[in-house]
Amino acid sequence: MSLIEKAVERLDGLRRDPAKNGSVAPQWEPSVNAVGGGGEMRSEGDRKGVPSGQYVELDLGRLQAAGFIVPGVSASLIAEEFRVLKRPLLANVSGSAAPIRNANLIMVTSSLPGEGKSFSAINLAISIAMELDRTVLLVDADVARPSLPRELGLPEQKGLLDVLQDETLKLSDVLLRTNIDKLTILTAGTHDPHATELLASETMGRLLDEIARRYSDRIVIFDSPPLLVTTESRALAARMGQIVFVVRAEETSQQAVKDALGTIESCPVKLLVLNQARNVENVAYGYEYGYGY
Ligand SMILES: Nc1ncnc2c1ncn2[C@@H]1O[C@H](COP(=O)(O)OP(=O)(O)OP(=O)(O)O)[C@@H](O)[C@H]1O
Ligand SMILES: [Mg+2]
Repeated sequence: MSLIEKAVERLDGLRRDPAKNGSVAPQWEPSVNAVGGGGEMRSEGDRKGVPSGQYVELDLGRLQAAGFIVPGVSASLIAEEFRVLKRPLLANVSGSAAPIRNANLIMVTSSLPGEGKSFSAINLAISIAMELDRTVLLVDADVARPSLPRELGLPEQKGLLDVLQDETLKLSDVLLRTNIDKLTILTAGTHDPHATELLASETMGRLLDEIARRYSDRIVIFDSPPLLVTTESRALAARMGQIVFVVRAEETSQQAVKDALGTIESCPVKLLVLNQARNVENVAYGYEYGYGY
């Protein structure tokens, strides 16, 4: 039995026997109301020393209130949990073990909607940006239902879909620098009825190769659509070096997890994350690792 299969079984065990995991329900509130519209965008001309693209000031207070990691805040539980999650991902990028193709391209996905992909992608990106020697590009690849503008309070602006359609538009023109120094964001861009086809297109494949090559020194985190509801995220997965697979504890069936994992077999590295688990400390975030090569 593979490590992934063992982890899936363990997830199922946790769901059947919640007593093992403490008695208090997970304490989290959706952050939709807590964050939104707070981002203030300026052109680069307003900000000295920053090259091309736009700049957005993220409202760190609102992010913190919504449960996200923010730099400069003394150790929090959520920061510690993402520290544990990012270690193996970063070790793979450094290539200490066997080299992994495009290891710096990391997709965060799940079987179904609402399992915590965007929450995890944002926290992972901020957590990695807080490392001394890492820069991060966070990409909103959930192009049909983008979450980053709502969660981070980003203004509407050109992004991924625009670059995919307009050959004259450079990636660097639409990247959003932020007040988290080493965090840059690529939004989903202008809504388009063919968004999902564009995401699965050859043009997207070429763009990903370009990102992997041009930004090989960066970690690129993709917030993506759920695997069982859409097919475009499978196409995306096939081009990723690593996948963080989020499972909402006590909600998602073992079968759904297995079916979804079956669609991303080609990705060399998968890390399974159990979100909103009840455990002995009654924390809202827990992990069960299935680490497959
Ligand atoms: N561990 C957590 N602690 C606190 N809030 C959480 C946690 N996980 C998820 N949330 C919140 O739950 C809501 C749903 O999570 P999120 O948007 O990340 O899911 P998703 O998988 O991206 O959903 P979709 O498939 O619709 O894009 C969000 O408001 C998010 O902030
Ligand atoms: Mg989302």
